[in-house]
Amino acid sequence: MNGAPHKRSIRDIDLTGRRVFLRVDYNVQVDDGRVIDDMRLRESLPTIAYLREAGARIILCSHRGRPRGQVVENLRNVPVATHLSRLIETPVRSVGDCIGPEAEAAAAGLEPGELLMLENVRFHPGEEENDPAFAQQLSKLAEVYVSDAFGTAHRAHASIVGVPEYLPAVAGLLLERELDALGGLTEPESPFGIVIGGAKVSDKIAILRHLAGKAEVICVGGGVANTFLAEQGFDVADSLWDRDGLDAARDVLAQAADRRDLRLYLPVDAVVGFGAADAGHIRKVPVDSVPPDWRILDIGPATVELFRTALHPMRTVVWNGPLGLFEREPFDYGSLAMAEMLADLDAQVVIGGGETAAAVHRAGIEDRISHISTGGGASLAMLQGRALPAVDALDDA
Ligand code: 3PG
Repeated sequence: MNGAPHKRSIRDIDLTGRRVFLRVDYNVQVDDGRVIDDMRLRESLPTIAYLREAGARIILCSHRGRPRGQVVENLRNVPVATHLSRLIETPVRSVGDCIGPEAEAAAAGLEPGELLMLENVRFHPGEEENDPAFAQQLSKLAEVYVSDAFGTAHRAHASIVGVPEYLPAVAGLLLERELDALGGLTEPESPFGIVIGGAKVSDKIAILRHLAGKAEVICVGGGVANTFLAEQGFDVADSLWDRDGLDAARDVLAQAADRRDLRLYLPVDAVVGFGAADAGHIRKVPVDSVPPDWRILDIGPATVELFRTALHPMRTVVWNGPLGLFEREPFDYGSLAMAEMLADLDAQVVIGGGETAAAVHRAGIEDRISHISTGGGASLAMLQGRALPAVDALDDA
C-alpha cells in the first residue's frame, strides 16, 4: 500500500469467519427514500466483495447528515441499506440502532458473507464527542475494525478513532486507493488552482485560509463566495452565507492583496431567484444588484468566463463544492460549466466531495478527470498536509 505504507490493510490479516466492523462513509443524499448519487456506495464495493470472499461477517457503520446526537427520521440508514443490497444483489439487514442488545444479537447472528447495516451512528452524541464508552459499545459488535470511510477520515469521532482502540484495526481498499491517489497532492505541480464552493461555508473558508499559501489561483462560488461578497460590503440579500466565516474570509482577502502570485476570483454576476425560484422569478444580475429578498443560486455567465481564463494556465486544479444549487435546474449551469472547463485543461484535476463528484458525473466527463475523490473535507485536509485521524488510528504494519 503506497498511500499509508506504515499501516496494515485487509490484505494483511486473516478474516475467515470474523465479524468485521466496516466503517464506511455512506453520507449520501436521499430523496423520497431513494439514494440520489451512489458513488460512495459503489466505491466501497471492492472492499465488501473482498471481505465476503474472505468469509467475513460484515457489520456496516455509517453516519448520514448532521443529526447532532438525536434521532432524525429522514437521516436513517435504511434507504442506503436497500440501495446497497440492490447493488450487490444480496440482502443487507438493517437494525434500528448501532449499539445495544438488538444490534449485538443481529451482529452475533451473521453467517460468513452476510451483511448488517447499523443505524446512523451520529444519532448518539457519543459519536462526535468521541466518547470512549460509546466506542467500546460499538466495538463489542465485532472482532476486527476496517476503515473505509475516507470521506470522514478527517473527523476524530468514536467510530473513526475510538473503536480502533479496542480492536485490531486495518485499512480497506477504498481508503488505500484514496490515499494513493491524493498522496501526491501535498506538493502540487504549479501553477496550482483551487475552485471552492458548496454550502459548508465556515468549514471551507477555514480550510481556504490554510491553503491560500499553496495556490496561485483561487476561484470561489456557492455559499462560500456569498460570504466573501458580504465581507466586501455587497448586499447578498437572502442568499446563503455565514457570518462566522467573515474573519476567515477577510484573512484570505488580505493574503490575496499581499501576494502578487495569488489571484482570488469572486463571482462578478449571479443567477438569482425569488421565493421558490420558479420560472418567473429567476434573473441574471451583477453581484452588486441582487434585489432585496432574492437569493444568489448560481454563478452567472461572466463569472464562468472569468474562471475559465483564470484556470487555463493551471497545471494542477482541485475543485471542492458546487458553485450553485446544482441539484436544481437551471442552477446547475455554473457547476456543469466548471466540470467541462476542467475536463478540457491540460492539468492534473482532482475533484473532492460527494456533490462535486455528482456534478462531474452529471456532466459526463469523469473519464477526463485525474481523480474523483469520495471525500471533500478529507481531501482538502490531505492537501493541507494534515494527518488524517482515521489513518493514524490504524495498526502499524
Ligand atoms: C462529508 O460528506 O463530507 C463527510 O461525510 C463528512 O461529513 P461532515 O462534514 O458532516 O463531518
